[in-house]
Amino acid sequence: MAQRIAVIAGDGVGPEVIAEGIKVLRATGLPLAFDELAWGSELYERSGAMMPPDALATLRGYDAIYLGAIGWPTVPDHVSLWECLLPIRQAFAQCVNLRPVRLLPGIRSPLAERGPDDVDMLFVRENTEGEYAGAGGRAHRGTRAELAVEVPIFTRYAIERCARYAFERACERGGRLISVTKSNASRHTYVLWDEVVADVGAEFPGVTVERILVDAMAARMVSNPGSVDVVVASNLFGDILTDLGGAIQGSLGLAASANLALDDSGPSMFEPVHGSAPDIAGQRRANPIGAVWAGALMLRELGHGAAADGVEAAIAAVCRDGRTLTRDCGGSASTADVGDALAAALSRSATEPPGRRGRI
Ligand code: NAI
Ligand code: MG
Repeated sequence: MAQRIAVIAGDGVGPEVIAEGIKVLRATGLPLAFDELAWGSELYERSGAMMPPDALATLRGYDAIYLGAIGWPTVPDHVSLWECLLPIRQAFAQCVNLRPVRLLPGIRSPLAERGPDDVDMLFVRENTEGEYAGAGGRAHRGTRAELAVEVPIFTRYAIERCARYAFERACERGGRLISVTKSNASRHTYVLWDEVVADVGAEFPGVTVERILVDAMAARMVSNPGSVDVVVASNLFGDILTDLGGAIQGSLGLAASANLALDDSGPSMFEPVHGSAPDIAGQRRANPIGAVWAGALMLRELGHGAAADGVEAAIAAVCRDGRTLTRDCGGSASTADVGDALAAALSRSATEPPGRRGRI
């Protein structure tokens, strides 16, 4: 039976890159059924809501959610985020946000003389709380005494499940984990974070943990990217550092992300890291590779590991070849040209013996 994917292409370049993602996912030949849900800022302008009232119940029935980007200049960003993306992440307990940061062959990194061997990081971002918990309020609106309070929430439960996932990935990779905090300035929340990471670490004696403050981590990613493997970070720090990761990869348009529901709370959601890019929307030049890579992460979670490897190998082949890249990566191809090249590379590699396939 086909696995059912809810598609929220969303705003701006979202629909442009997701169209190419679906093109490549269809080229795998797997039995996947895509249902497009026209939710987002256009719906908000017409109806005053980003999603219909029964949206979460609708999504719950799917095997996975494939999302483009949410947000457009006509809708305040805190409205679009809080009425669409964050309710989905929270309702389905998509507690980990997994973000690979890899330099692809053939893509020029802004870091001089670094190659794919130097940039291969995996970010595990806590995805339900911290600065994204929504706790707080405003008082004395419109007066000179107006104030706003935003309270970051950190719970042992959420830190622990995210840290455990990160330790498991570190075991599979190099046995090294970096935990990013700011426990010098934030003496309550990030101190709890450090303690919980240390507690979970006791279950994984084979993993070496390094604790790095977020400001130093930003510098470390640029000055010594080869020393960074698996990283576990809070919601806000993970968000910021992975945009830096996207830049180190050569373009934010290449970066992919998986919002993982680790229990049976609902479907996981897969999306490129970037937003709706209003500055280039409608110009047929958005890079679809981040969205396609997010599609590969979705295939892996749905149990199609070989097909996911195939899509990632197709991405590596198109980048290595270098002739069909969008402008952000130094080429002149359109969004659809890159999608076509990826689908063609996928069909070619399907006829090759596995040993000859490149991995990202
Ligand atoms: P953005 O990620 O949309 O754009 C930042 C820069 O990266 C822009 O110069 C853009 O042209 C470039 N870029 C982004 N995607 C690209 C692609 N596929 N190919 C080539 N270049 C690309 O971030 P920005 O401008 O801060 O946000 C725009 C809107 O997107 C806002 O409404 C924001 O709230 C929303 N947003 C939504 C996210 C989501 O749905 N997960 C994530 C980040 C932002
Ligand atoms: Mg972000």
